[in-house]
Amino acid sequence: MTKTKPTCLTRLRKRLAKMREIKILLASGNRHKAREFSGFFSELPPFGDAKLALLSPGDLSCELPEVEETGASYEENALLKAAAFARAAGMPAIADDSGIEVRALGGEPGVRSARAAEGSDPDRVNWLLDRMRGIRDRVACFTACLVIAFPNGKNIFGAAERDYFSAEGRCFGTLAETPRGTRGFGYDPVFTPDGYGATFGELGDEIKSRISHRAIAFKGVAQIVPSVLKYIAVHHNENCNGDLGRCTN
Ligand code: IMP
Repeated sequence: MTKTKPTCLTRLRKRLAKMREIKILLASGNRHKAREFSGFFSELPPFGDAKLALLSPGDLSCELPEVEETGASYEENALLKAAAFARAAGMPAIADDSGIEVRALGGEPGVRSARAAEGSDPDRVNWLLDRMRGIRDRVACFTACLVIAFPNGKNIFGAAERDYFSAEGRCFGTLAETPRGTRGFGYDPVFTPDGYGATFGELGDEIKSRISHRAIAFKGVAQIVPSVLKYIAVHHNENCNGDLGRCTN
């Protein structure tokens, strides 16, 4: 009996089956974003026997870069972060850049949301409420752009000019007059998503994880997970030390 040669896909599936858990690094030290992302990743269906698992910078022993957010758009900033972390750790990395846009302020603070005012999250919330004092138009929207980048910058998505994947999500709502609720982070206590009578600070992860800008952007990421897993299976031996990249955990 002649033995048939395994197809490329069969070989990939076999390699993935051996790897079981395939790791991707979150290029962010923000613990709130990390909590939201681990919820999203835990709901991804497995690909064959393999599952994509999220690592945080704290899980790795190697030094990771401080990335300055010098980009003019969410996508540029997310790419700066994802590419730098992927290169440093030798494994695929996912980054998020996000912000709040307020219609009455011509879209501000937007990409500058994290740096709109000195200090802490509550300081920035107060800065925003001060700027909005007396303004009746309270329409606002959160935007998130997620980028996945790879350590050797290889293009796996078939687009000639791109060697990364990005997905954007938006969540529309209105700005409250005063902060309400203690859950979430950033501008959550003053953002009431459309269709709800409470802020994200009051609604918490149960609702936010379904309707937020980040949750919507992650739906785009979920679609490319099979490509990401295939990429890792193909390049496993080439640029990874085990399945952990250059760093260990
Ligand atoms: P960066 O993406 O690290 O540049 O920071 C985004 C900033 O936008 C955060 O520091 C928050 O102030 C704000 N932001 C982004 N996403 C959210 C969210 O889901 N809730 C509240 N604030 C957010």
